[in-house]
Amino acid sequence: SSIFRAGISGARPRVPVDPARLAKAARRALSTEAYAYLAGGAGSERTQAANRRAFERWQVWPRPLRDVSVRDLSTTLLGRRLPSPLILAPLGVMELAHPEADLAVARAAASAGVPAVLSGQASFPMEESAAAAPGAPRMFQLYWSASDELNESLVRRAEACGCSAIVVTLDTHLLGWRTRDLDLGYLPFTRGLGIAQYTSDPVFQRLVDERARDSAPAEAPPVRLTPRTVAAGITIARKGRRLTGGGLRESLRSPLPRAAVETFLDVFSTPALTWERLARIRSWTSLPVILKGIVHPDDAERTVAEGYDGVWVSNHGGRQIDRSVPTLDVLPEVAARVSGRVPVIVDSGVRSGADVAVALALGADLVALGRPYAYGLAVAGEPGVAAVIRNVLAELDITLGLSGHTAVSELGPASLRRAD
Ligand code: FNR
Repeated sequence: SSIFRAGISGARPRVPVDPARLAKAARRALSTEAYAYLAGGAGSERTQAANRRAFERWQVWPRPLRDVSVRDLSTTLLGRRLPSPLILAPLGVMELAHPEADLAVARAAASAGVPAVLSGQASFPMEESAAAAPGAPRMFQLYWSASDELNESLVRRAEACGCSAIVVTLDTHLLGWRTRDLDLGYLPFTRGLGIAQYTSDPVFQRLVDERARDSAPAEAPPVRLTPRTVAAGITIARKGRRLTGGGLRESLRSPLPRAAVETFLDVFSTPALTWERLARIRSWTSLPVILKGIVHPDDAERTVAEGYDGVWVSNHGGRQIDRSVPTLDVLPEVAARVSGRVPVIVDSGVRSGADVAVALALGADLVALGRPYAYGLAVAGEPGVAAVIRNVLAELDITLGLSGHTAVSELGPASLRRAD
């Protein structure tokens, strides 16, 4: 109701409430390259369109005259109570959106009690995100690197800085064919952006040293990455008024420790990953492990059968395969197969509180938000992310009440009607 009251007071919000206007505001705030990286998808972006179409196929079926004066958005995840079923999907390279990047996201998530999933491709080391929001619920997302020693190190650091689960992303063993970025000749990582989890890691430091030793003349000084370093160039860019406009271009010119970037590109992921190799994670941590990027019921079945702790239905927001299956379409089948044995999380195309309600009704236990909070971050930093979270939760609450439910747990297939 505070959001309504703010609206009634006549004040225009800095962060647009409407999802399309929010995206436009972000586009205005960002450089061409930064916006393309955030907004873009694979190929002709049919998967992104299909993700949205899948939502359009469902309508909420209102049932009035039920007492909905008290409503409960809370839920549980892996034994922990959460104030709502919303979580923030891991988004890498958030320095493209705002200089405070992951730190702003961590703080905004913490103030809403919403778990943040710290990206493996973050702009700040996970320890700094943890320190920015002490005690807040957080998880760590791992891209399975070619070096298992590095994977182990990242997982152990996540456990040490208070992450309650490891999310392994399985749909990015090859980088998607991202046409906007290709046409702009732009890949953040080659500029040393979004590699802070690596440059702050002792195993990665050793891999960089080895690489530099192998390829540089003997008298060349070793590349020294301090734990604080993302890369030299980015620090320069952060000093500018904003990284997102001219600042981004500034960072493109900045000198970077080449060996670090090259090492990152060598190890960042591996197409050789299999179920057998994935199981090694169990010897590195006792934390719950959630698999992200599951879209087939058989893979969901195997996730449960192999003892993993959560199924995250995702097509990476349409960034990996053009013409991939929309997640909302496969969600009911996946949820039926999982049958409550582990939590099911869904993302890709969620833009509003009504979308969250539909995803919950179709079998998700939790719903993850991606691009919209990056847009909030681009428009207004930490308060921008907070506004986006608040708006989604307010609309979810209203949708719940107007459709005749008093708790998110009551949402089910009977809450919906399929559009003709
Ligand atoms: C992502 N995504 C992602 N996923 C992941 O596991 N690790 C990561 O580092 C990133 N990075 C990332 C950057 C950007 C700019 C985007 C847009 C997405 C995928 C993300 O977690 C999530 O699956 C999608 O964003 C969900 O789709 P929507 O909500 O963006 O449509």
